[in-house]
Amino acid sequence: MSPKVQPVRGTQDILPELAKKFRYIYDVSYATAQNYGCEEIHTPIFEFSEVFHRTLGETSDVVSKETYTFTDRGGDSLTLRPEGTAGVARALISNGLQQLLPLKLFYSGPMFRYERPQKGRYRQFHQMGIEMLGYDSPESDAECIALGHQILTALGLSGKFQLEMNTLGDNESRTKHRQMLYEYLRDFKDQLSADSQIRLEKNPLRILDSKDVNDQKIVAGAPSLQSCLNDNSKEFFEKLQNSLKLLGIEFILNNNLVRGLDYYTHTVFEFTTTHLGAQSAILSGGRYDGLIEQMGGNSTPSVGWAAGIERLALLLADEQLPKISKRIAVICADDQAKEKCFKLTQDLRLQNLCAENISGGGNLGKKFKKADKWGANWVIIIGESELQNQTLTVKDLSTGQQQSLSQIDAIRLIQNP
Ligand code: HAM
Repeated sequence: MSPKVQPVRGTQDILPELAKKFRYIYDVSYATAQNYGCEEIHTPIFEFSEVFHRTLGETSDVVSKETYTFTDRGGDSLTLRPEGTAGVARALISNGLQQLLPLKLFYSGPMFRYERPQKGRYRQFHQMGIEMLGYDSPESDAECIALGHQILTALGLSGKFQLEMNTLGDNESRTKHRQMLYEYLRDFKDQLSADSQIRLEKNPLRILDSKDVNDQKIVAGAPSLQSCLNDNSKEFFEKLQNSLKLLGIEFILNNNLVRGLDYYTHTVFEFTTTHLGAQSAILSGGRYDGLIEQMGGNSTPSVGWAAGIERLALLLADEQLPKISKRIAVICADDQAKEKCFKLTQDLRLQNLCAENISGGGNLGKKFKKADKWGANWVIIIGESELQNQTLTVKDLSTGQQQSLSQIDAIRLIQNP
């Protein structure tokens, strides 16, 4: 029996057209991140399950419903990474990088979540992200957000996104809110959805994020986090807002933004779009001051974000992609010129030019058609007379101008027309 030939639900092949967009997004992001002092890191695609399970929150959707977890042949429970932050935090501790703090790290690669697939939502998707580790000031949050903003702008997405922000406050404020929320929701326990009834005992904050309509009605009257914020948390958030204003970065305050992962403290933010239907978040993150300590490292206040590459690619216009400006087709107009054409094509490539040898059967007209299909904007023709005169016929397809030149002069002309 032949194997199944379709891809697994929620996965997709990144075919050349889409791959071009991925490459462009990675290149622009990495170049921009380097200007902010980021260095690149790659962590494994799978980790011991506890790396994710404890840190992202047992009650979070990601952990409770979406992880790809399996026991390997050695009996260890492993999980395909659903996101990058926990792996980077683990790597910081396991490699003794805490001595090098503060650090700004950039990463990219596939992530895995067993979500219901739809436009912009996949089970294997790709993220690029940054983590600013060992940075505790509100200005760091502004810097982190500014990097995301600059990348989206550099990708030509201005006008297609907005920045939403909220604060979850520090530990003291969060504990107070959690207690007040619990006391409020406890009175509605029987009316809450089954999921939220479980969350009530484990993490009532997650109920605020419930998609259940009845839960949402109950939540509307719940004590707000804002009313529980202590002075320290308010001041931190105000300073962040002032820093963003100083940088000219616009934002919207959204008290309902709580994010789906448990490790956040203080700032949370999302760059959202109205161009992708339900999957509005394109780049999101926040501060996670307690995560690294929780994983067994030293206290390391940190802030970061990740962006969904598929979602950015959906927003990216084709015209935005850089094109190879010079594509040279070498056309062999006589069988005797075959070797010369083969060698010339290689010489052009060694000069860092994009060249293709159009040989094989067919008349000149057919070969020109092939060159056109390949996207040539320059053509070099070698036939009998060129061989005799040791010249090349060079044609600039954008102007239609044709000249007879030596190889050196031809390359010079193409490089500097
Ligand atoms: P997240 O919001 O879960 O945060 O994911 C970040 C981005 O990944 C989202 O804004 C979205 O663009 C994309 N994304 C998430 N799930 C999918 C999916 N199923 N299909 C396609 N794209 C998706 C995090 O992952 C945190 N680690 C971000 C962070 C870094 N926080 C601090 N540092």
